[in-house]
Amino acid sequence: MITSDFLASTSKQDIRACAIDPNHWYVVARGSEVKDKPIEITLWHQNIVLYRDEESTIHALENRCPHRQVKLSEGKIVGNDLECAYHGWQFDRQGNCSLVPYLSPKQKLPSCKLRRYPVRELDGFIWLFPGDTNPEQVSPLGVSEWDHLNYIATVSVINCPGHYSFLVENLMDMYHGHLHDDYQAWASASLQELRVDKNSVEAFYEAQSYYRIDKIWSISQLFFPALRRLHPEPLKVSYIYPHWVSTLGEDFKIYCLFCPIHETATRAYLIHFTSLNAFWLLHKLPVWFRRWLKNSLFGSAQKLLDGLVRQDIKMIEQEQQAYEQNPRRSNYELNPAIAKVQKLILSQGIVDYKL
Ligand code: FES
Ligand SMILES: [Fe+2]
Repeated sequence: MITSDFLASTSKQDIRACAIDPNHWYVVARGSEVKDKPIEITLWHQNIVLYRDEESTIHALENRCPHRQVKLSEGKIVGNDLECAYHGWQFDRQGNCSLVPYLSPKQKLPSCKLRRYPVRELDGFIWLFPGDTNPEQVSPLGVSEWDHLNYIATVSVINCPGHYSFLVENLMDMYHGHLHDDYQAWASASLQELRVDKNSVEAFYEAQSYYRIDKIWSISQLFFPALRRLHPEPLKVSYIYPHWVSTLGEDFKIYCLFCPIHETATRAYLIHFTSLNAFWLLHKLPVWFRRWLKNSLFGSAQKLLDGLVRQDIKMIEQEQQAYEQNPRRSNYELNPAIAKVQKLILSQGIVDYKL
């Protein structure tokens, strides 16, 4: 764990100590993770409890009971309120104390209030805005393919023991196909163009794809790698602060939705979509059948995706360790996309932002 002394010894512009810009929508959970019990998440040092009310609407409150500072995520949901496990105080959806079970007739409810975070459930994920500006002015990235009948989804969770910048760099540098060997989805990447603006970096590579989804049985390539054949495809990777999106030809789209936890831990959701757009006959079939097909094929790229994630995490863990051992040692970087990404992270991350 990085200590405050360690952080103080590094430069203010050190990317591996850079905070997040809180005025964006971050992804803190899958919708399916929040059921009938409160759950805790941590987004850049802030411990937050998520729960569903009676209408199934998600709420996000500071995960600390104001009475004795224990975690409210240890408690339970009572109607629309959250009940602390310790003495049973309850808090409503606004974060106000709504009940103390042992309040005497002469006592008033304490006026304590929990911080409440703007939160939305959208496209299968829970999006949370930790900042202090108007959240309506920024739109969550969203995942438009999530409910679309022509896309088959697979989700892999990334729990990465490193600063989020290492993961962003990993995702933007397509020359690391070398690492993935058996799981390789692309090869021979060559950077052609970079486009940069205030909130994004787009990198256009020419590459070879191992997969082509043009016949219905093509999906079996995701299960049986031996069926793959290399062919050229454009590969585009975009860092749209604070998330990442990629397309490989027409057949694949991948998202990485970020939840940076603190300087040395990052959680993210990698979502892989296989497109069925090429099968126009399929689109004439009844919607119920297409939905059944989409649901039945959910997770078909799981082995591929989990394998890629395992290999990437191992590298990032080592990068983080090397940095902690010697933060001033610099890399030999040849991919110009990395410098652009680092500049964007530093320009957005407010170095001193922390709870
Ligand atoms: S600590 Fe929560 S009710 Fe006492
Ligand atoms: Fe990778």
